[in-house]
Amino acid sequence: MRIGVFDSGIGGLTVVKPLLKSKLFEKIIYFGDTARVPYGIKDKNVIIRYGLEAVQFFNNFDIDLLVVACNTVSAFAIPQMKLQANFEIVGVVEPGILAIQNSGADFNSEILILGTRATISSNIYQQKLMEIGYSNIQAIATGLFVPIVEEDIFHGKILDATKEFYFNNLQKHPQYIILGCTHFPLIADEIYKFFYRKNEKKLNLIHSGDAILEYLIEKYPNLKPSKSEIEFFASENPQNLKNIALKWLQN
Ligand code: DGL
Repeated sequence: MRIGVFDSGIGGLTVVKPLLKSKLFEKIIYFGDTARVPYGIKDKNVIIRYGLEAVQFFNNFDIDLLVVACNTVSAFAIPQMKLQANFEIVGVVEPGILAIQNSGADFNSEILILGTRATISSNIYQQKLMEIGYSNIQAIATGLFVPIVEEDIFHGKILDATKEFYFNNLQKHPQYIILGCTHFPLIADEIYKFFYRKNEKKLNLIHSGDAILEYLIEKYPNLKPSKSEIEFFASENPQNLKNIALKWLQN
């Protein structure tokens, strides 16, 4: 199967990593809209327009499926994108919800959703979780993590201050954290460290990349091992994206 992976920037690389490792996809074409990142502070119509432009980009390639590795686009633009695409499209929200269900979280578990302002205000995660019975849900927009990660900052004072700014006033301590933005797995260890408490019940981080791989394996049971080539495109400074990809995908 030949797939495209699309994100506003480098965040979708966190989705590429498990897809590439699985060796189940013969070709992966990555496109990061680095010229216009971040999407998470834009309004719905702009996000839909950017999603449709990504479809036009991928219509030039021979792919079977597009993975929208961006929660913000997944929250707003999937139905519109499907209408214009020559290929199937999956977003990351459904797989994220499935991953929570498969992780063993019971309906009383304390769930924290982190995402961009657009994703959190769309309410998509909150609604879907409530529909299936979860009720202890907190959600916070933590969009500042996006430019921090795009700046190649994964540790240190700026990140520490940002974590404190966002997390210090949380009402309840989470047991499950949905990393509802594909940039956030790049700082997953930092988020984990902040919330980890010795002698406390487990802390689980739900990651779109692992979630989507599980979802695709279930949806396409005939996927066969193959050599897995990857090609990178970006709307600005593709070399920078390639450099980060090389670093991130290696370890
Ligand atoms: N990585 C994207 C997401 O999953 C968006 C980040 C942004 O562009 O604001 O939501």
